[in-house]
Amino acid sequence: MKMYVVGNWKLNFNVGEASIYLHKLMQKLPNSRNVEVVVAPPLIAMQPLSLQVDRRKLKIAAQNGYYRDFGAYTGETSMTQLRGIADYVIVGHSERRHIFGEDDKLLGKKVAAAIRNGITPILCVGETEIERSFGETTEVLLDQLNAGLSEISEEDYDKVIIAYEPVWAISSVRGSKLATPDDVAFAVQTIRDALPDDTPVLYGGSVSPSNAGAYLTVPGVNGVLVGGSSLILNEFIDIIEIARRVRS
Ligand code: PGA
Repeated sequence: MKMYVVGNWKLNFNVGEASIYLHKLMQKLPNSRNVEVVVAPPLIAMQPLSLQVDRRKLKIAAQNGYYRDFGAYTGETSMTQLRGIADYVIVGHSERRHIFGEDDKLLGKKVAAAIRNGITPILCVGETEIERSFGETTEVLLDQLNAGLSEISEEDYDKVIIAYEPVWAISSVRGSKLATPDDVAFAVQTIRDALPDDTPVLYGGSVSPSNAGAYLTVPGVNGVLVGGSSLILNEFIDIIEIARRVRS
């Protein structure tokens, strides 16, 4: 299976900055089939970047998308509108769940809408610090997976990518709260047991060049979802290089 390196830019970069970053990144990347490099720019930059990008080198993900195709939903952008622009869409990132109150039911609909529109959903699952401290990690992961996949048929499970993102390890300041490879192995095994073998499972949470190798070599991990470190071009390129080495 190929390796994925996905950079989630969150609410960073204006359109010009995003375009310059993409230009520089493409200059450094060879065409590659073994490592799928994906960037998730802010929505406003998606359309120009989708024209600029050389898809033999990398792909574009949306950070979010709505499940209704059209209608009176002020401020939303549908998966239908993202069609042809986004190759992937991140669904259920912990910031969407916790800051914007997106619940499992809504996320299941978003996963289905993405697939219906030919966009690969990257469904994020992960427990909070409190859930972890109560030993609820397995239960939380299975609940989020079941709900996230509830609107699609089992035949479509292999059209979804899962990202394990423990909420407590996201945006950790200078790596102060990192998941250990054992934490990741445990969660990824739980996820894998519930899904077909060919579903890619990624890890995300303060991934940087100094720990990417450790996460990418955890059995069952097919890539990383990178936030902060993906904003720094050299760090993102280093992580891609590590993925390439691990894959070969
Ligand atoms: P981080 O973000 O790498 O900055 O922790 C990861 C994510 O939120 O996907």
